[in-house]
Amino acid sequence: MSTETPEAALSARVRRPSVTDVARLAGVSVGTVSNVLNRPDRVATATRDRVLAAIEDLGFVRNASARQLRSGEITTIGAVVLDIANPFFTEIARGIEDRLAEDDLTLMLASSDEDPEREARYLRLFAEHGVRGVLATPSHGSIDALLALREKGIPVVLLDHTSPVPELGSVAVDDVSGGGLAISHLLDLGHQRIGFVNGPLTLRQCVDRRDGAVQALIERGLDPAESLVEVSVDNLNADAGDAATRRLLAREDRPTAIFCVNDLTALGSLRALREGGVAVPDDIAVVGYDDVSFASMLSTPLTSVRQPTHTLGWTAADILLRTGLDDVEQVTFTPELIVRGSSAT
Ligand code: RIB
Repeated sequence: MSTETPEAALSARVRRPSVTDVARLAGVSVGTVSNVLNRPDRVATATRDRVLAAIEDLGFVRNASARQLRSGEITTIGAVVLDIANPFFTEIARGIEDRLAEDDLTLMLASSDEDPEREARYLRLFAEHGVRGVLATPSHGSIDALLALREKGIPVVLLDHTSPVPELGSVAVDDVSGGGLAISHLLDLGHQRIGFVNGPLTLRQCVDRRDGAVQALIERGLDPAESLVEVSVDNLNADAGDAATRRLLAREDRPTAIFCVNDLTALGSLRALREGGVAVPDDIAVVGYDDVSFASMLSTPLTSVRQPTHTLGWTAADILLRTGLDDVEQVTFTPELIVRGSSAT
């Protein structure tokens, strides 16, 4: 247990006590304080009593941090996504921006390029800039750097990613369901051998979409090892989708349909099919994921699993501003299949 006195915990601070002050005095994590405030049943009695004593000693008033968020001291929110060249993320960024504008706040936006070191560098820059909070699409399995930010008193909400821990807010789409929608649609059209252009399994989104695809095949009594021809790509962009599709076309057991993990890879796939003289959907059907703005504008409009991109961004920013460090909200949206000419005539 921490021996620090309430006065010492606040000595260097001339401001309202925060969750971090309470955590330090009680000798627990910020997440534990958040649980005492919001889900006391999850906290052992002795720990809960220590935290409540620290709250009493410091005169902590809940929502103090959230109130600081609204106090006008700092006007910027940091957001690190995978790739701002991907329209999925720029449409999400617009949703974030529209919510921040309601509170006269601005957005500092960065791309991790799925590189954990680049992500960590931006998180450090956000902290140095003293941002009011951070929205992040994790570039890999670990969220330790994001939890560390929260420990420093910077609110964090995961974006396009479910939270593996109770103390981090999150906004995501049920990608397992989304992968199932894409494959079920192609199975309904009679396709039995389906190419799957998927990203790195260090990305939760790619893991979940694959899980949904595999579940859909198994539910139809099909063997995924036979029916799903997977090609893994390192980057979730058009060139990667193009190269993966050329690998599928070179196979003797060429699939009759291709499910791409996002619309950018699907765009590249359509280019490779067009340059290969393959008719879409008559020779090979194509399904993407995101339903970004260009999907409906293509000469062969793209069938895609729609994510509510603007709503994802707006909701993540709203949760961050409303809850600060004191509360946690985890929201998962349901995707929708939008059928267009790339899969069905
Ligand atoms: O976030 C990982 C991927 O999921 C991105 O490429 C985006 O397109 C979304 O579908």
